[in-house]
Amino acid sequence: MTTLAFHEGSIVPIEQATISITNHTFHYGTGCFAGIRGYWSERHNELFVFRMADHYERFLHSAKFLHSRIAYSSDQLQEATLELLKREGWKENVYIRPIAYKDEGIFRVWLHDARDKVSVFSHPVGGYLGKFEDIKVCVSSWRRVDDTAIPARGKINGSYVNSSLAKSEAMLSGHDEAILLNQDGHVSEATAANFMMVRDGVLITPPVTANLLEGIVRKSLIQLAREKLDLEVQERQIDRSELYMADEALFCGTGVQMAAIASIDHRTVGDAGTGPVTRALGELLQRVLTGDEPDYLHWLSPVYG
Ligand SMILES: Cc1ncc(COP(=O)(O)O)c(C=O)c1O
Repeated sequence: MTTLAFHEGSIVPIEQATISITNHTFHYGTGCFAGIRGYWSERHNELFVFRMADHYERFLHSAKFLHSRIAYSSDQLQEATLELLKREGWKENVYIRPIAYKDEGIFRVWLHDARDKVSVFSHPVGGYLGKFEDIKVCVSSWRRVDDTAIPARGKINGSYVNSSLAKSEAMLSGHDEAILLNQDGHVSEATAANFMMVRDGVLITPPVTANLLEGIVRKSLIQLAREKLDLEVQERQIDRSELYMADEALFCGTGVQMAAIASIDHRTVGDAGTGPVTRALGELLQRVLTGDEPDYLHWLSPVYG
């Protein structure tokens, strides 16, 4: 189990990585975070961290949205993360959680002159949805948080109340996950994953202007689909009724990885199994993550090598 954290500028025992109940982010959700995965490869005897530079780039952008002054560069955060993972000695798949938060100041709701801190910890992880196919989905009655309210492309703590409401609503009504629509009624994303569907052999996903988190797995799959599977990819608006016409549909993201959707609002997607495009993309992604696709080794940071 987790024994260490990067906290207040150094690697300390996890028990020492604590914050006060006066913490600004604890009260107002004014932090931002990243969710990164490390993949253990038995074949390479190596732990590969996937697209760490992209994750820290998004993390620093999210911090900027919150007027947070982060004391570390992306390179320093990557270095600290690799050192943390090495010292933990993980030889299994892990999830890495960097978090930037504002220390103290509960009578100061504003953002710009708070004391900004960063912590990072990691822990072993399996699948997020508990399965990679047969995912039953509903369209949420909650709309995705709008960029005019909270920066939608930031991974901002407070905006996850939106995700949590939709996720619980979905689970309590017997579904695995929810799809959230924008204020204008078009598909945005899931509660902690991006959405893609296949129609007539074309991979379709909402554009980055659809109030979604600009997912790093989403971006990777678009590139892999074009470069390796020769697929047409369209980034465009998706209507609710179009969901019911999908031949295949999937979620993608660091937590979910890739999961095949079996039904949406009680309408079967394709034959409810994992369709050919989803399967091909999933297998390709798996090879990329474990260092078995030479063209994409630059996406991986080896912890021990
Ligand atoms: C709201 C939301 N959308 C999309 C994603 C997928 O993003 P990524 O592929 O960068 O993990 C996540 C997960 O991190 C998320 O929390």
